[in-house]
Amino acid sequence: MEPLDVALIGCGTVGSGVAQILLEHPERITARAGRPIRLARVVVKDPTKPRPNCVPSSIVTTDLRKVLDDPAIHVAVEVVGGVDWARRAVLDLLAAGKDVVTANKALLALHGAEVFDAGRRHKKAVAFEASVGGGIPIIGALSHGLAANQILSLQGILNGTCNFILTGMTENGTSYAAALAEAQKRGYAEANPTLDVDGTDAAHKLAILAQIAFGANVPFSAITRRGIAGIHQNDIRYAKELGYTIKLLAEAWLDRDPKATDNGGGQLALHVSPVMLRHLTPLAQVRDAYNAVFVLGDAVGSTLYYGRGAGQMPTASAVVADLIDLAAGRAQRTFEALRLWSGKSNGITLKPTSEVPSRFYLRLMVEDKPGVLAEVARILANHEISISSVIQHEGVESPEGDIVPLIIMTHTARTGNFTSTIAEFDRLESVTAPSVYYPVGD
Ligand code: HSE
Repeated sequence: MEPLDVALIGCGTVGSGVAQILLEHPERITARAGRPIRLARVVVKDPTKPRPNCVPSSIVTTDLRKVLDDPAIHVAVEVVGGVDWARRAVLDLLAAGKDVVTANKALLALHGAEVFDAGRRHKKAVAFEASVGGGIPIIGALSHGLAANQILSLQGILNGTCNFILTGMTENGTSYAAALAEAQKRGYAEANPTLDVDGTDAAHKLAILAQIAFGANVPFSAITRRGIAGIHQNDIRYAKELGYTIKLLAEAWLDRDPKATDNGGGQLALHVSPVMLRHLTPLAQVRDAYNAVFVLGDAVGSTLYYGRGAGQMPTASAVVADLIDLAAGRAQRTFEALRLWSGKSNGITLKPTSEVPSRFYLRLMVEDKPGVLAEVARILANHEISISSVIQHEGVESPEGDIVPLIIMTHTARTGNFTSTIAEFDRLESVTAPSVYYPVGD
């Protein structure tokens, strides 16, 4: 059996995990792929950095040309991360006749069309299971297991770092900074953790899922996103009191006439945001660095995918699965059939965020004096927003008089109507701090 010769481009956290699985479990992999998968080259930036013991130093190089110019290498695994260098390397690798496996969600979210077009032109495949949800086979589920369905919605906890931070803050009262430092120590966070906590990483992953689930080529900049950096312990506590847990969710819903034909278009709403979920819903129970994706299909109904979404071996597990699929010849056929990022329109357009219906949680810090609650209620009523519950706790003494938190849950409203009220609240003299609000996911 002719082995599949593979080059690793990058040998940091994930690359080392891939090397470890390939070199420590050759029998298992040969049995599943139908032929051996051989690690032939490892390209690194810094050859002096320690690598796993199993990687022979004779195959380590700093020169990508050693891969580009070697016809014996069939597949390159891009696990360097970042966008600019990785984009150039992937395009060159495809042009040099290599199939590519990548874990690079930013690359696909920002340049998916260019990368997939290059793959098609050079008749080479791009496999990317590791780019979303770490070890969870969500790309495989959407492209194979759920292929009979029109996906109607998906909701994901797609950033392990944020989920780890929110779990720590909710369950142990850990500070935001301490929880972030621990997530970095455990290897969950991106090199630049701002991408995790501001929602960018989850939005990259949502752009990829939107392409596979809905065939929607969403410009990354069109995904509205809010991160977790400003979340306050008080809101986590009030959410708990109301029966909710705050999670950073990446969500997509297709709004389409149920009687429409298969190419019947529709509007797709997408966002990344902290969302309040009822304690007992499945996604609210996902803790620590775990990821989960809830997918609703028109034939299958509700399905849920859960597992480790970040870290060395879960991500390596997904990369090696792609290598096995390439060795067996399956990944090439899937790549050809799915025609992802091909620019072909299926009539689905983006729904403006302002038109998305949602319930909302709102916290205002207000002066405790006559007429304030009435004024707040009047602004909500003027924007056709109905109040579902109100909590006001007794105030803390302050030099300016009593300031109290006013917590309001609304009934379903148009997002645009709700956000217009925020601007008005923030102009009121009786409101003493910027308004805090989150969508409620039920
Ligand atoms: N930084 C990412 C996370 C790693 O925390 O989920 C996987 O993409």
